[in-house]
Order: sequence, then C-alpha cells, then structure tokens
Amino acid sequence: QRACVFASGTGSNFDAMMQDKKNAGSIVLLVCDKPGAAVIKKAQDYGIETLVLEPKRYATKQEYEAVIIEKLQFLEADWIFLAGYMRLIGETLLSQYEGRIVNIHPSLLPAFPGKDAVGQAYRSGVSKTGVTVHYVDEGMDTGPIIAQEEINRIPGETEEQLKMRIQAVEHRLYPNVINQLMQNVTEELL
Ligand code: GRF
Repeated sequence: QRACVFASGTGSNFDAMMQDKKNAGSIVLLVCDKPGAAVIKKAQDYGIETLVLEPKRYATKQEYEAVIIEKLQFLEADWIFLAGYMRLIGETLLSQYEGRIVNIHPSLLPAFPGKDAVGQAYRSGVSKTGVTVHYVDEGMDTGPIIAQEEINRIPGETEEQLKMRIQAVEHRLYPNVINQLMQNVTEELL
C-alpha cells in the first residue's frame, strides 16, 4: 500500500504521519497547491518527493487534477490522505480514487465544517468538540465518517490552547487511522 499526502500549509499532520514508523515507509509523495508552504520543506527534509502545483495556471480543475493523477499512477499510489489541503477535490480525482481519499478535520463533523473550525467551535460555546477523520466526497467536509475523537472544553481556556489540544489529538488519531486503513486492505488482499 502506497500513499500520497495532499497539504497546503504548515504540515504538522504530515510530520506526525512521517514520525509514525508504520506509515512513514508507505508515503511516496506530497502534493502541495501553495508554493512556499512550510510543508514542502518538511517533505524535502524527510526525502519525500514533492509535486508543487499552482492551480491558477490550469484552465480547469480537471486539467489540474489530471496532472496529479498522472503522477499518482506513475508512483502506483493507492491512497490519498488530505492534511490541511485547502481545496475541494474534484470529480476527476474522486472518480479515479473512489473510497481512497481521506481527510482530517478539527471538529466533530457534521458540526463546524469549512474553515476555522476550531474558532467556530470555540466561539459557539459548545461543551465538546474534537477531531474527525472521514472519506472525502464532493462536499466540504461531508463524506462518511471513519473515526472521531471528542475533547471536552475546559472553562477559561483560550482559543489557542484549545487549538493545541485539538492538534495533539489529530497527530495521534490520523496516523492510527491511516495505519488501520492500509493494514485492512493489505489483509483483504492476502
Ligand atoms: C488541521 O487542523 C486539519 O485538521 C485541517 O487543516 C489543519 C492542517 O494543519 N484540515 P497542519 O498543516 O497539518 O499543521
């Protein structure tokens, strides 16, 4: 099982995947849609190949995703793991990798989809929030849920403190789920 990670930002989740010995060897590519994003340097430091693209250079999303697919097929990637990839996945990738694209989101979906989920939860005053790992469909943070972990709000904590606790959950949960998904498929094949 070979995996590709799509990320646009800091890459702390990418880092957590690479720190997990069971997954690290399966990750063959980082796809990034933001030249200059910190995650690119992280991938280079780990010796992971990077495909850095500028979506605006492509006339359509289909053309943009076709470039990615060509690379994924060349590397024989089985899975796409989104880790802070700030772009909706289009039909071209979805049809090619049906049931093989997974995302992590910093809330208990379906609550607080989209941007700034931690801030949305913080301001709303909910007593619990958390992290969701889910399959990707055409919507924004809408696909079938694979795993969720709740955390209780601590009275008086700042948004930044809540964010740090959410990130700590993400960094543990995502590598574990990825490991299980890849392991299950490998067992099915045996
Ligand atoms: C994470 O909170 C993830 O849940 C969301 O985007 C953020 C990415 O952070 N989809 P990082 O780049 O992995 O630090």
